[in-house]
Amino acid sequence: MRYLILSDIHSNDDALGAVLSRVRRKRFDRVVVLGDFVGYGANPNQVIDRIREIKKPKRMIRGNHDKVVCGVESGDLFNPVALSAARWTTEKLTPRNRRFLEQLPVGPVVVDGAFTICHGSPRDEDAYIFTDFDAYLSFREMDGSVCFFGHSHIPSVFTLEAHGILVELIEGDHTRYRLQKDRRYLINPGSIGQPRDRNAAASYAIYDADEAVVQFDRVTYPTDRARDKIFKAGLPHILGDRLLVGS
Ligand SMILES: [Fe+2]
Repeated sequence: MRYLILSDIHSNDDALGAVLSRVRRKRFDRVVVLGDFVGYGANPNQVIDRIREIKKPKRMIRGNHDKVVCGVESGDLFNPVALSAARWTTEKLTPRNRRFLEQLPVGPVVVDGAFTICHGSPRDEDAYIFTDFDAYLSFREMDGSVCFFGHSHIPSVFTLEAHGILVELIEGDHTRYRLQKDRRYLINPGSIGQPRDRNAAASYAIYDADEAVVQFDRVTYPTDRARDKIFKAGLPHILGDRLLVGS
């Protein structure tokens, strides 16, 4: 079974459109989305509609922005820029798409008995995994040997080995990563709609569970178009400018 793994789309329809046209020629059986469909960008409804239209079985969970936008959580902990984008998004969402966000399950969720998905970490959907210590806490709480997570917007792999935790950033635009049987993994496919690793290209992964291989890929897209939509919508300019540098 091959899984298309998408995360942190953040209402960026230009980025999502580019990724979905890239994978049209690739083989995958199911789609997994690790949350943060919306927030920050200018096209929340288009993004949700586009995901809904994919004609493959899907497993999806909510992210912290999805929760705030549909009113499941207040947004008290958001910074002012994130909060103003969340409020703008709430106003723009169609009732159908608001319901879509409300009904997203909470991670962690086990997919096909094969691996786990979560937004932030397996122990807390809002917690970040940046360091080996964050990963250590997560490995203690996690079932199984493979977990995909999002939230940090950094394509990365944390590996629990016999003598410690290996931390790797995925820096290439096309990286084939083979998983070993006797190790455990926390894997972030990176962000589609707001990468933060100084690479502006949209980031996603395809996981071949039978071969135990994760293929990480980057797709360039018209970042200036996504930025201009953000400006035109009256959203904070920083949300547009950062797309050009991937920060
Ligand atoms: Fe996010």
